[in-house]
Amino acid sequence: MRPLSRLATVTLGAGLALSAPTIALAQEEVTLGFIVKKPEQAWFINEQQAATALGEEQGFEVVRLAGEDGQQVLSAIDNLHSQGAQGFVICPPDVRLGPAIMNRAEQYGMKVVTVDDRFVGPDGEPMETVPHLGMSGYKIGQQVGEALAAEMEARGWNPEEVAALRITNYELPTAKERTDGATDALLEAGFPEGNIFDAPQQNSDTASAFSAASPVFAKRGDYEHWVIYALNEESVLGGVRASEQYGLGAEDVIGVGINGSGAAFAEFSREAPTGFHGTVAVSSTMHGRQTAENLHAWVTEGDEPPANTVTSGTLMTRDNWQAVRDELGL
Ligand code: GLA
Repeated sequence: MRPLSRLATVTLGAGLALSAPTIALAQEEVTLGFIVKKPEQAWFINEQQAATALGEEQGFEVVRLAGEDGQQVLSAIDNLHSQGAQGFVICPPDVRLGPAIMNRAEQYGMKVVTVDDRFVGPDGEPMETVPHLGMSGYKIGQQVGEALAAEMEARGWNPEEVAALRITNYELPTAKERTDGATDALLEAGFPEGNIFDAPQQNSDTASAFSAASPVFAKRGDYEHWVIYALNEESVLGGVRASEQYGLGAEDVIGVGINGSGAAFAEFSREAPTGFHGTVAVSSTMHGRQTAENLHAWVTEGDEPPANTVTSGTLMTRDNWQAVRDELGL
């Protein structure tokens, strides 16, 4: 069903005796939604902006919406329907909402593409029928672990005397893949498994990581040197901020995140280095553009996007962050 405003556009066009091709164009107007779980995070702001920019170039409209919980996602879908949207890209607040989200979308005949966090079906398996684009979680995690090991070596730390703070989020499969990859790379580099301490976070942001990390530092005052890793840089930053509260300085801490967004740029821009050593940067610009482009092609030409596209990352540190940023179009 077309919304009133668009019908009005077409009628007006016809009334003005527009030529046939102009009317056809007006009828083909495409509106796509882009719903994200954390609209205030730099990663997601950039994804939505990149999708909007592509829409401006290619002549379709992108409606950016927040979906921080199930209720908000469902009303966002209703809202998109009332704006005449043909589909949406979504990073869901909880991957287990997949079936409910698909139900609502199908009622409206909307096409759905997921970005970053892939829907999980009732059987606990990824919903293969919904096209997805996201990080290669395990590989990017391994890059994190390798970067931590290399920096420990550069600082001449004896791994036996180093503790690892692993901030976990096992509800989210991509998060588990990332921290598993980092753990395996650390173990492979000879890091002792018994020195890894878990800090389970409730969410994927700085505040939840800070709360999860603090008690671990409080209990483990016997370690002077720490490495910190998590699903993303926002969470590693929470861990680094917590380490500072316990008197650990930049020289005592090596935190390596994932994303390469505004949160990391702000940290690298500080006058003095902090325990946030680096981050594996992935192009959020590409994630936003590519998913919007895939959905647009699906809506307009019937080309169904690939079932699963995985993207890779580049280590970004205080020394090279501006160059990597340019290279990834961030
Ligand atoms: C998850 C994280 C985000 C970001 C994306 C990238 O959604 O919560 O911070 O890392 O993955 O895929």
